[in-house]
Amino acid sequence: MVKGSDMELDVNGIRRDFPILGTVQDGKPLVYLDSAATSQKPKKVIAAISRYYRKYNANIHRGVYKISIEASEAYEKSKTKVAKFINAGSMEEIIYTRNATESINLVALSWAEQNIRSGDHILLSELEHHSNIVPWQILAKRKGAVIDYIRLDSDMAELDAASVDRELKKNPKIVAITQASNVLGTIVDVKSIAKEAHARGAAVLVDAAQSVPHMPVDVRDIDCDFMAFSGHKMLGPTGIGVLYAKKRILEETSPALGGGDMIKTVGFETFVSNDLPWKFEAGTPNIEGGIALGVAVDYLKRIGMQNIRDHEKRLTKYALGQLAKQSGVSVFGPDADDIDHRCGVISFEIDGVHPHDVASIFDQEGIAIRAGHHCAMPLVVNVLKRPALSRMSFYLYNKQSDVDAAISAIGQVKRIFKIKEAAQAKV
Ligand SMILES: Cc1ncc(COP(=O)(O)O)c(C=O)c1O
Repeated sequence: MVKGSDMELDVNGIRRDFPILGTVQDGKPLVYLDSAATSQKPKKVIAAISRYYRKYNANIHRGVYKISIEASEAYEKSKTKVAKFINAGSMEEIIYTRNATESINLVALSWAEQNIRSGDHILLSELEHHSNIVPWQILAKRKGAVIDYIRLDSDMAELDAASVDRELKKNPKIVAITQASNVLGTIVDVKSIAKEAHARGAAVLVDAAQSVPHMPVDVRDIDCDFMAFSGHKMLGPTGIGVLYAKKRILEETSPALGGGDMIKTVGFETFVSNDLPWKFEAGTPNIEGGIALGVAVDYLKRIGMQNIRDHEKRLTKYALGQLAKQSGVSVFGPDADDIDHRCGVISFEIDGVHPHDVASIFDQEGIAIRAGHHCAMPLVVNVLKRPALSRMSFYLYNKQSDVDAAISAIGQVKRIFKIKEAAQAKV
């Protein structure tokens, strides 16, 4: 087996399942390196959405007729699949939302609304996406709570262990933390943070938007109280997200949103909440999104989450090795020899070139990468002190030649901006 090759995963076979990957723009094949923003979708997921509308489109939980029963069953079955996928106790612990952002907001609006008081501490980290900062800022303002941040270490790559200890000593009510950074690619040991946080009586929310799609994740092993992730980053459609929460907590928490479906009975004065998980899903949900997410989970399981993780590790290591040979290119996050703590996200910059120019030149080469603050302004602007970064990110359908295309596009950027290949002379 050649190190860094596509041999271990049948990437060519996988790619045939993704119609968009056959796209040719201006004579150049699409090289998609932005799966951290959203993943591409396999034919089976696209077909599941189309099949729902062609064959059994009906509202769920309400009809006694066949297509409504079929739609209800397919929607609920997908929750059972998602529950098994992350090893939740049952589908009662799986609430469908629109995305990871809404899942975190739902915790802030329900559990945190009922449990956080003036002066309480909320612990986040400097790695967080806006989705795991702003809902807490809104809540903290409303409640008079205090937000603290676990700092990065001096390499700006991983969380500082001393900072974790220091902040936990403030006895936060909740620790809300990412499992994989969408900027640095850092994989956080959320299991050990959850253990320490629980020992101090804190609840733990894991933002798994960048982990659940890319590696085996087991909520019971981590022992988190809440976990949030998005369907669209894991081969599913947009508009469907997941909030996992422990059953006991959901039972003790009042719903934040009211309306149809989340009730058992309603009177003029009051209502009785529905059973879990419907208690937290008000109104008609994204039925086809839920069904298609179940199909996406089937697809990921068939390939195997450990196989996907191993493939991304190989690609990331290969890419880091190639980037290290480039003069005038800086890479952020854990080193290649720390690959167990790094996911397939690589933020980089080319000296003297704005990341938006980098991304535009990549685009001319048919390569889709992202440039900007990656919805993590506190990290990018305040901690890394950069206005923006370029970012490439991998998934199961990326191959070594995609990395090679990115490296050659870096050469093109340098040619256009006439950056001297000083370091190449050293090699
Ligand atoms: C770490 C992380 N958390 C949360 C989110 C928010 O995901 P969504 O926009 O699907 O809600 C993202 C999206 O990029 C992310 O990378």
